[in-house]
Amino acid sequence: MPLPSFHDQTVGLANRHEQRWPWWPLLPLYPYGRRRTLVRTLVPGRIWSFEQLHGTWYVAVPIRMTVVKVGEGLMLYAPIPPTEEVVARLRELETEQGPIETIVLPTASGLEHKLPVPALARAFPRATLWVTDQQWSFPLRLPASWLGFPRQRTRVLGRDGVPHAEQLDWIPLGPLELGLGTFLEQACLDRATGALLVTDALVAIQDTPPDLFAEDPTPLLFHARDSGSEPLIDSEANRRKGWKRILLFANFFRPASVSVPAPGPLLRDLFQPGCRTAREHFGFYPFRWSAGWESEASELLRRFAPERPAGLAPVLERLVFPGAQRLFVDWLRQLARRTEIKLLIPAHYQAPQPCDARLLLELAERVQAADWAPSDASWATLAAIDQTLLNWRLIPPR
Ligand SMILES: [Fe+2]
Repeated sequence: MPLPSFHDQTVGLANRHEQRWPWWPLLPLYPYGRRRTLVRTLVPGRIWSFEQLHGTWYVAVPIRMTVVKVGEGLMLYAPIPPTEEVVARLRELETEQGPIETIVLPTASGLEHKLPVPALARAFPRATLWVTDQQWSFPLRLPASWLGFPRQRTRVLGRDGVPHAEQLDWIPLGPLELGLGTFLEQACLDRATGALLVTDALVAIQDTPPDLFAEDPTPLLFHARDSGSEPLIDSEANRRKGWKRILLFANFFRPASVSVPAPGPLLRDLFQPGCRTAREHFGFYPFRWSAGWESEASELLRRFAPERPAGLAPVLERLVFPGAQRLFVDWLRQLARRTEIKLLIPAHYQAPQPCDARLLLELAERVQAADWAPSDASWATLAAIDQTLLNWRLIPPR
């Protein structure tokens, strides 16, 4: 079966393929074992996107694995959980394009990209696994083979060379010592298409909900409410409202405009008419939004406005790069020297994004001039986490 085109946004969401993912009892992650995958062609015959939702408490955002044509086969960049649906769609691609030769884990720290690696590697036993150097686990530093990486066919990017150098350039961001471990990410430039693949370092966020929510907008509608006693009502306005609130949670953990209600009102909202099923969490909604939430969301979205197609997620800016603005700017300037770049494909949120050397240079200049890693307003919770890590000496002093 041919893959849907880039403009065919919903064909890849096949509810007949809803899958149970075996980790879900261990991690309270949305979509609670019913993980669906949206498959899109980003560059015909060359690059495909496999997207899923991941998160918790209905705070769900897209995560993406990118499939790239390499020589006579395929490369998987930034693994996602290999549900039966994912494996079936990859087998279809293999029939059309050749075998999956390479699986790349392009980050040393991103747990959501690391966890699916062993199962994906087992599903494609002939593929070589390339991992970013300085992999780490917490609280114990375990050998890679203990983490499920197959010893015989695992290579380390940089140390053991790089895969497909005749076609791809690998541009590292880092290493940056975090104390708990190391941040290191490997961007990948496909010279022929001008596609720049990144993992977490750059994202593009839109104010409209991703297509992954088209079939089941429950998370959006859940967060569009102002109390647990309100039923979930599907409308375009509610979908947008819910998405903006999800963005605030996902980017700031606890936005400035949200508070937790007292136990009394919280309990009174439980089991009200229209809110008595697990879908509504039986009326449990421990958030109260103040009037300023929309301007807080607008402020966040300005970082990713159409004229500035991508940026660094606040979580990374405040918790990973607060003392490494220069490192990030230098990496952007390094990318900006690559005139082949036409597209940006991050592992989260929107893709593909138009991108080129000029836009990357402008971004570098904007970042350099920015009030970097602030601690007030929306950023207060991230700043408090950072301070706690400093106090506990889990991260080095700056
Ligand atoms: Fe990530």
